Amino acid sequence: MTEALEAAVLTALRRVIDPEIRQPIVDLDMISGVRVDGGAATVALKLTIVGCPAADTIERDVREAAASVSGIHEVSVDVGIMSRAERDALTDKLRGGRPKTLQFGPDSLTRIYAVTSGKGGVGKSTLTANLGVALAQRGLRVGIVDADVFGFSIPGILGIAGAKPTQVNEMILPPLAHDVKVISIGMFVDEHTAVSWRGPMLHRTIQQFLTDVYFGDLDVLLLDLPPGTGDIAISIGQLLPQAEIIVVTTPQPAAAEVAERSALVARQTGQKVIGVIENMSGLVQPDGSVLELFGSGGGADAAARLSTPEEPVDVLAAIPLSIALREGGDTGRPIVLSTPDDPAAQAIAALAARLGVRARGLAGRKLGFTVN
Ligand SMILES: Nc1ncnc2c1ncn2[C@@H]1O[C@H](COP(=O)(O)OP(=O)(O)O)[C@@H](O)[C@H]1O
Ligand SMILES: [Mg+2]
Repeated sequence: MTEALEAAVLTALRRVIDPEIRQPIVDLDMISGVRVDGGAATVALKLTIVGCPAADTIERDVREAAASVSGIHEVSVDVGIMSRAERDALTDKLRGGRPKTLQFGPDSLTRIYAVTSGKGGVGKSTLTANLGVALAQRGLRVGIVDADVFGFSIPGILGIAGAKPTQVNEMILPPLAHDVKVISIGMFVDEHTAVSWRGPMLHRTIQQFLTDVYFGDLDVLLLDLPPGTGDIAISIGQLLPQAEIIVVTTPQPAAAEVAERSALVARQTGQKVIGVIENMSGLVQPDGSVLELFGSGGGADAAARLSTPEEPVDVLAAIPLSIALREGGDTGRPIVLSTPDDPAAQAIAALAARLGVRARGLAGRKLGFTVN
């Protein structure tokens, strides 16, 4: 009877998911024992690290799961911490026994989109964040790397400005925002510290994001790049040659030329430019007229300039000017969740639908050689 109850409690505990690693805690060897005495269950829970931010959630879920078993009237949870050896075993397991290497290697099925632009302030980060959430809403497993080391803004836009990643040995668990795994340099530096690293340090940071951060198996990884053609764009080109480039531009005629330059660096490192997003497009006024604050045609113009006979580049979306989109970025509430009827939210959702069907797979990917 007792044994059957213990087994039933353990089965119930299989439902408890570690919110950061997103796997059943039983599989992560976080349950080190279950004892039942009469109707009282004692569960020995081992957290990965001291001060684990998910501790309360896990403990509550363990308590609820154990209490849901009929015949159990009382639950106590003994909370302990994994030993170094146990943590090593866990990180090995998560890495699938592979040595510490770059995730998203050439055989990875994760679609990687690097969002770039010629200049800052065109809405890259706002769109990357909202697109990530919209893709996650469609049921895809999504990660965002905020690679704009100097001007990181993704955590703020997604409402997790103060979040710190949990670290298990050398493995970093990315905080979740609206079901999107997010990593940003902003999580590692003091809010008021200016980052002023030089090239090699930047390269190492991006490399560390791609090796030490545990994203698990993702359908889509979005990279929010800094504007222009600097060191980070080159590093991404070297580290993730399979990344596909999306260029963001405003409708301003002159913007197209600047946008073009940012894509050229990417092409030089073998990346494919798949499309242009025109942002801050015309805003439909209540009287039906369209306010074209930044002019029109910049997206189509940039796409035309980037197209080659072998690689046509489309305008993937035109996102209208939107006060709600701007406010959502300021308050950390993505409009695709808070105001899905907003025309900008709808345009982003349509973009997610378009990119979502391309999720996963090697199809269409350039092979690692060029013929010319
Ligand atoms: N479609 C839009 N309508 C209104 N404001 C926008 C739109 N897209 C972006 N913004 C605002 O423009 C500013 C710059 O956007 P941001 O995403 O930080 O640009 P970038 O990452 O390219 O530098 C932000 O204040 C943002 O809220
Ligand atoms: Mg930005």
